[in-house]
Amino acid sequence: MANSLNGRKIVLGVSGGIAAYKAVELLRLLTKAGASVHVVMTASAKKFVTPLTFATLSGHPVYHEIFDSEHSAAMEHLQVSENADLLIIAPATANTLGKLANGLADDPLSTLFTGYDGTVLVAPAMNDKMWAHAAVQENIRKMKRMGVHVMNPELGELACGVTGLGRLAEPADMVREIQQLLAQQSDLQGIKFLVTAGPTREHLDPVRFITNRSSGKMGYAVARQAVKRGAEVVLISGPTHLEPPPGVQLQPCQRAQEMYSLVMKHLPDCDVLVMTAAVGDFSPAEVQKEKMKKSDQPLVLHFLPTVDILQAVAAKKTGQFVVGFAAESENVVQSAQEKLKRKQLDLIVANNISAPGIGFQSDNNQVTLIDSAATIEALPLMSKVEIADILLDRIKSKIAPSS
Ligand code: CTP
Repeated sequence: MANSLNGRKIVLGVSGGIAAYKAVELLRLLTKAGASVHVVMTASAKKFVTPLTFATLSGHPVYHEIFDSEHSAAMEHLQVSENADLLIIAPATANTLGKLANGLADDPLSTLFTGYDGTVLVAPAMNDKMWAHAAVQENIRKMKRMGVHVMNPELGELACGVTGLGRLAEPADMVREIQQLLAQQSDLQGIKFLVTAGPTREHLDPVRFITNRSSGKMGYAVARQAVKRGAEVVLISGPTHLEPPPGVQLQPCQRAQEMYSLVMKHLPDCDVLVMTAAVGDFSPAEVQKEKMKKSDQPLVLHFLPTVDILQAVAAKKTGQFVVGFAAESENVVQSAQEKLKRKQLDLIVANNISAPGIGFQSDNNQVTLIDSAATIEALPLMSKVEIADILLDRIKSKIAPSS
């Protein structure tokens, strides 16, 4: 990781807080390590440090006016971040976080952020009461759900004279975090992932179907993060309202049987299978060709069990690393462990569906990872994007332990 900054293009966004002076030190450390750094400033940041300081130290013009007549026609906010390996925003004030989390774009930094789809790290700095405020915390959660990385502020003396949680992270720590994120950008290169997501849908007649409450968010997060980290990803998805992540090969399906066929088709070519899909357990014995008419008689429908895809994979796999999910409402760990053994999984992600505010539909979840060596790792409540990254870290360490 020592020279991971050499030749990399970093955009440093500076917003207006007293900690802006630390961005100068950050810039110095990054350029010293060989990075090419382009600085973007908000109007308030210029009250603390001048653009000239950053321009002189970075060797590049500083972007600090959206409507600069010389440059605006060239869409400067898109050019500055073009081919950038990472955008770090330090310090990120409460005001800037609020804009970024809510898609506002009225200054150079927020316009650049909304036009950038690469890795973003924000390092907030503010008064401790502001940091603790529900609105700021909600914005931080929003940013994390978008996949933005956050370096929490530290405890220390603040500009207002009190000691509290709100101090900008130290520049050297930010450099280490940047190096880690850059290393992560290609750590899954050469690994082929097969991910299933969403619910399945079983038709009863041309207009009716049975399905379940799965949103697909967990599987889409795994697929998105795996691609971002350099993996090849085939995403087999039941019906969802989600945008397919850029770079994945999407294979849509509806019925459990269709999902089974697609998994079997792609299994021989993958290294890792992650089955997040909530596959329906039953399908109607018969699908009516015409719409069923209303009647005053009770309706009796017959269902047959669907194929258990993971069980079928167990018989067919040839060294693939297989991850299953378990939605449990009681004895979570024990039930998941039984499932892991029965389906011959390498890893299972268990969650307690009876806990409020997590799981189905939610952007967050609280899960426990259990592997075939009975290692149990209970994760705190976090966004599904964060869970996806931790899951990918664990998979990577199992299949390529030396890297
Ligand atoms: N799964 C599957 N094929 C099915 C049903 C589920 O491959 N027909 C997979 C899911 O994608 C998930 C895991 O198996 O990875 C979930 O196991 P399952 O036995 O369905 O358990 P739960 O849905 O958690 O619930 P239950 O224990 O009540 O069956």
